[in-house]
This record gives sequence, C-alpha cells and structure tokens, in this order.
Amino acid sequence: MAVSDFMDLSRPPARPGLLQRLRTLRNRLVADAGFQRRVARFPLTRGFARKQSEALFRATTGFVQSQILFACVEINLFAMLADGALSTEDIAARASLPLRSAQRLLPAARALGLVRNSGHGMWMLADTGAVIHGNEGIRAMIRHHAMLYRDLADPVALLRDPQRQTETADYWAYAGERMGRDVSGADAETYSALMRSSQDLVATEVLDAYPLERHEAVLDIGGGEGAFLAAAGKRHPALSLSLFDLPPVAERARLIMKGAGFDGRFTAHGGNFFTDDIPGDADCITLVRVLCDHDDAAASALLRNIRRSLSPSATLLIAEPMDGPKPGESAAAAYFAFYFLAMQSGACRSPQEITALLAGAGFGSIKRVRTRNPLFASVITAKAVNEL
Ligand SMILES: C[S@@+](CC[C@H](N)C(=O)[O-])C[C@H]1O[C@@H](n2cnc3c(N)ncnc32)[C@H](O)[C@@H]1O
Repeated sequence: MAVSDFMDLSRPPARPGLLQRLRTLRNRLVADAGFQRRVARFPLTRGFARKQSEALFRATTGFVQSQILFACVEINLFAMLADGALSTEDIAARASLPLRSAQRLLPAARALGLVRNSGHGMWMLADTGAVIHGNEGIRAMIRHHAMLYRDLADPVALLRDPQRQTETADYWAYAGERMGRDVSGADAETYSALMRSSQDLVATEVLDAYPLERHEAVLDIGGGEGAFLAAAGKRHPALSLSLFDLPPVAERARLIMKGAGFDGRFTAHGGNFFTDDIPGDADCITLVRVLCDHDDAAASALLRNIRRSLSPSATLLIAEPMDGPKPGESAAAAYFAFYFLAMQSGACRSPQEITALLAGAGFGSIKRVRTRNPLFASVITAKAVNEL
C-alpha cells in the first residue's frame, strides 16, 4: 500500500518537523540584537554580517537608488559627460539645476558607480554610466520604470486587488483578457518602440547561446518591429527571415526592415497568434520575450497554435528571463513577479514550468541552452512530438 493511502500529502503536518523547529529557533536567535552584535564583532562572522546588512540596506533604499538613476537619465547627464569632464557648476547650468541640487545629485551618482571624480572638482563617466550612455534601450527602460513605480506605489493595495486599474496594464494593450484584440496603431507604436530599443542585449545573449546558422528560415512570433531578426540576419546572411505579429506591429516591422535593407529576405505576417494560422515553412520558430507576457491558459493556447503549424523537423526556441536558483535568475523572477502584477498578465516561469507547458502542447526533445546572463534571457528549445 502506498504512503499516500495513509497520509494527505497535500496538507502540512499537524506538528512542525525537526528541521522547521530548528529553523524557528535559529530565526529567534538571529532576531536578537545581542546575537547580531556578537556576529558583527566576531572575526569569522564579521564579513557575513556586513554582507547581510548591505543587502538589507539595498532592499530598503532601492527606490531612492532608482530615482537617482532616473534623475541622471532625465537631465541627460551621461550624454553631457560623454566627451570629457565637466565641473559641478557646468553640469548644474546645462541641466537647469540649482548648484546645491547638482552638489547633491553628483556624489549620489558616484556612489552608484555612474560617475567618478576626475580631480579639481570635475566629473567624468564611470563604467556603468558609460554603458548607459552607449545603450538607448537601457535609458528607455529606466524612463519606462517611472510608470511601473506609480503603479507599485501601494503594493499591498495591488496585491489585494490585482485587477485595480494600472497604467502598466493599459500600456501593454494586447495582454490579459484582451488577448491581442483591438490593439490600435498608437498602442502598438508605444510599446513596440520600447521593445525595439531594448532588444540589443537580449539578441546578443540569445544568438551567442544558440547560433541560428544551423537553420535556413526563421519565423519570429511576436517579433515586434523585427529587431531580433535584424540582429540574426546580420550574423547569418543566408538566413531567410519572417515575422508574425499583430497587424499594426507587422506593418511597422515591414517598413523598418525595408529601411534597414532586409527587403528581399524578410516577410511580415499580420495576425493574432492565438487564433490565426501561423505560417509553417520555417525550420526555426522563435518566441522572444513573448510567452512570459501571458498567463498559463493563454500561453498554452499559443503553444498549441504554433504546434499545429510546425513542421516535424522544425525547432521552437523560447528566450526570456526564467526563474531559477542562481542570483541573476531569482533577481529577475522577483522583479518580473511585480512587473507582471502591475501588467495584470504573465509570469516569469522556471524551465520546469515552461517544460510542462510545452509537453502539454505537444512538444518534446525539450532542452535548456545556457546563456551568459540570465537577467536578459534564458533559452529553451523543443520540437514537435509526432502525436498530439
Ligand atoms: C513583449 S513584446 C516582445 C517583442 C519582441 N519579441 C522583443 O523581444 O522585442 C510581445 C510581442 O508580442 C506581440 N503580440 C502580443 N499578443 C499578440 C497576439 N495575440 N498575436 C500576435 N502578436 C501578439 C506584441 O505585439 C509584441 O510585439
């Protein structure tokens, strides 16, 4: 007879187990101020205590750090310093700030590793500032977060009432129950420009991890304005490129890709990926930052629709941030849990959860492909199994 015949394994045991009791005792000890003082003084635990308190400080003050970064982007500080050093007075004048405000902002930006002193009261870009200056997508994302933070100003209210009106849900006009219906050209323009400008780092990560040279034709579903395909097309000149997205987005992709010189080898298909037929002639289908936008039922419907048109030898590639135990993965998952809360749709899933969705939609040969930086994307590939 199985153990489960005797016990209801879905319920926690009535009495806490030994491990739980030990952890509770440990937590009482850690909460004690005297114990904390001893750990902070003792040479072997001092470093650990400092790291713990720094992590707590970062979590407590994260909003202020984001606002310092946002202010630097808004006043164009990184562009100002791109060609060399400036004094505090110069920066204050160019940014239309009182001198006292520049004197407050610049040391704060230095503490975040955005700028550095170059002597004689002059300021230059530090490495992170230089990276932000070089990437319009990062700046666009930093600006975009002002909207998210308005929605998250009262996180408990949003957690209690996840359907309350949010700007983030309005912004992603295709998501949630709307399932891609009635997305206007204006809606599409707003989110597509943000997606295009932030695609660079993602495409580099994905194409390094899974070079597309082994394929002849790639179809990017929910491919936005074609930024991922443009990056793939530049790396692999023989690859034929096609994209499927909502009609106003597909139209934008057509114009942009034509302007970028991909005219002869690029096709854009407009339609709804939940309900319309997906062209089946590509040997690689990509879903880049798409599946995570949708709740499980919608994600399954999308995978089933792709499965219906997929040729048996074709590969499906899913690239998006995924949940996992590594620091980059769990940080991405914590962030996206709240992003998707404000968006009222979507989930940052673990590879196991994506595997379950894929298997349920008729996919097999499911493999994880390692990427360098899981903050940008993790990758899973799959193939259609013979029988649905
Ligand atoms: C988060 S964006 C990702 C865009 C692009 N793959 C990237 O990574 O930059 C999701 C894309 O899916 C498209 N999309 C959403 N719902 C759709 C639907 N029902 N049918 C077709 N495309 C859809 C959106 O228009 C958008 O371009």
